[in-house]
Amino acid sequence: DKAGHKHFMAKEIAEQPQVIGEALNHYLPAGGAEVVLPGNGIDFSRIERLTMVACGTAFYACLTAKYWFEQLARLPVEVDIASEFRYREPPITPGTLALFVSQSGETADTLAALRFCEGKAAQIVSVINVPESSIARESDLALPIHAGVEIGVASTKAFTCQLTVLLMLALKAAADRGTLDADEIADHLAAMRGLPQALNGALDQNDEIRAAAQRLSEARDVLFLGRGQMYPLALEGALKLKEISYIHAEGYASGELKHGPIALIDKHMPVVVMAPRDDLFDKTVSNMQEVMARKGKVVLVSDESGIAEAHEGTFATVRMPAVHPLLAPIVYAVPAQLLAYHAAVAKGTDVDQPRNLAKSVTVE
Ligand code: M6R
Repeated sequence: DKAGHKHFMAKEIAEQPQVIGEALNHYLPAGGAEVVLPGNGIDFSRIERLTMVACGTAFYACLTAKYWFEQLARLPVEVDIASEFRYREPPITPGTLALFVSQSGETADTLAALRFCEGKAAQIVSVINVPESSIARESDLALPIHAGVEIGVASTKAFTCQLTVLLMLALKAAADRGTLDADEIADHLAAMRGLPQALNGALDQNDEIRAAAQRLSEARDVLFLGRGQMYPLALEGALKLKEISYIHAEGYASGELKHGPIALIDKHMPVVVMAPRDDLFDKTVSNMQEVMARKGKVVLVSDESGIAEAHEGTFATVRMPAVHPLLAPIVYAVPAQLLAYHAAVAKGTDVDQPRNLAKSVTVE
């Protein structure tokens, strides 16, 4: 049932405020001053390093979470693609927490990576959407993301629910390790409570996003740029566009632009810049200006004050609500998803069942 939407993907994008609200309710019970995990939970004060393993969009959720765990909890983090990790024989120290992220819980490479860590890691934890799945069953602790069934092959609501659970975990880690005090944690959690409203604000920009997507749908190649915790979102935006519209897209860290990809820029190249007005905004804007100086067509995704400051010379702007800096990757996921969605609809591709792809990759 598509609930009045043309595609499951559109329905699943629209559901994000609600399902994220549910994820928050599950992990922040009773007033929500602290993160409560099921079962025996995790004691991050005993953990020396975190190894996160996943594929595809779930891998990009892990890459984003690396910024959070390192910054908030001062925990060393390694993130790897499951199909690389499992064959590399990485040394797993007894103080390692091994964390596997998978919507389906059935991805063959992620499951194999989990099995590789059995008997080596201090604890095996999974962040999954399907509680009965193999990955959930084989973990010491399975943390559901509460996204509800996801049918579209392009993962959308599972991604933002993964991010929501991972950010709560990073805050739990900060509490256990004493790297943030109780007031700071309470402030961050209160900001997270505002996520459903912020996501609604992002969804309200659908028309603006559709207009920008029209331009993307005519392009042969598209670049996505982001800095800091917006860098993994640039990768995710490019993956979404490739998957369902078949337009070649690449995500780059803004600072890497001049180390190669700037050679691609000309008047035919749309460049989507994910730039909330945070501490790194000015740096990203200067990369964006380098693109415009070479006639690249910039789509700037920022908040009111960022757009006021930097809109000059852009091809299009997409206005996001102003949010707590930690929440930006979750809120800006909405325009990343909708850009891909509308570009695919404009091209007339099969949005929910893109060619050559399966929802759950159970072969290696
Ligand atoms: O079920 P999983 O989260 O383990 O799946 C991982 C990837 O196969 C998945 O995220 C894939 O990249 C999606 N099609 C992305 O939209």
